Amino acid sequence: MASQTQHPHLPLPDYFSKFAGIYVRQTGHTTLNILADVIAENVQTSASPIGPDSVVHDTAAGPGIGAAALVASLPKDRLPKEMLVSDNAAIMISAARESLAASPLPRVDCKEIDSQDLSSVPDNYFTHSIDNFSIFTFVRPVDVIRETYRTLRPGGLAVVTCWRRFAPMYIVHAAQKRIRPDLPLMPTPSPQFYEEDVLQKVVEEGGFAKGNITVVDKVRVVSDDENVAGLTMLMTGPMMAKAREGYTEEEQARWAESVSQSVKEEVKQFGGIRFEAYILLATK
Ligand SMILES: C[S@@+](CC[C@H](N)C(=O)[O-])C[C@H]1O[C@@H](n2cnc3c(N)ncnc32)[C@H](O)[C@@H]1O
Repeated sequence: MASQTQHPHLPLPDYFSKFAGIYVRQTGHTTLNILADVIAENVQTSASPIGPDSVVHDTAAGPGIGAAALVASLPKDRLPKEMLVSDNAAIMISAARESLAASPLPRVDCKEIDSQDLSSVPDNYFTHSIDNFSIFTFVRPVDVIRETYRTLRPGGLAVVTCWRRFAPMYIVHAAQKRIRPDLPLMPTPSPQFYEEDVLQKVVEEGGFAKGNITVVDKVRVVSDDENVAGLTMLMTGPMMAKAREGYTEEEQARWAESVSQSVKEEVKQFGGIRFEAYILLATK
């Protein structure tokens, strides 16, 4: 799939708060662009497309990525009448709130909520639930799916996306091996989720019937300078501080250069920074 800096319809940067802008830049726009692609190519062609009667939840939404993806991928007359954007991190929710105030979504609520406990939401409420690249961050992923299932209407559609290859992890590991091959590699959160069977089981355990789950794959190769720079910033910054644990000052000082070298190797091998994702589309 061709790489692009951002979706052509996405009104960045005015649309996003500063924090949200930094977030999407440091993800190389991957979580946003892959979700926009899933909505356009998979959700809208499914038996449950999003439309003006839809009520959508984006759980563990970060700074409003699901809402941004909807705006990016749907014409205004297909936007849902109501949307809940939730995350358990206050900074994510304030960034989402600030950003989405100017969005064309008819009604959007941004709330600090734990995805594992949606008790403030009644049963059978949403027509669509999005869980975009978050499943590996939850302590109790089955509870998240159970709550997703409970709050979804019968016939409603859940979209759960997950990495198969989260490129920054490979690049960071290569950078670590160059400086201190003797130290442990930075751990990946819940690496079992790189296997789709594991997620499939969690989604079934959470309530969805096996026969109502389909899986699609997406690949995104990030090659434009702006997004490569954003991803490099992520890998050289505090999010990847664990990779430098046990480093001397001199070794710390070599980190940025080592990451840049590993980025070059990744680009040489794949023509860009290669992300692979799989998506479960589960109907209640
Ligand atoms: C990797 S980010 C993905 C964000 C966004 N969905 C996206 O597509 O970019 C993971 C998000 O999950 C949130 N998160 C982690 N545990 C959570 C929980 N128990 N309840 C709600 N949000 C949670 C984090 O605050 C973070 O915003």
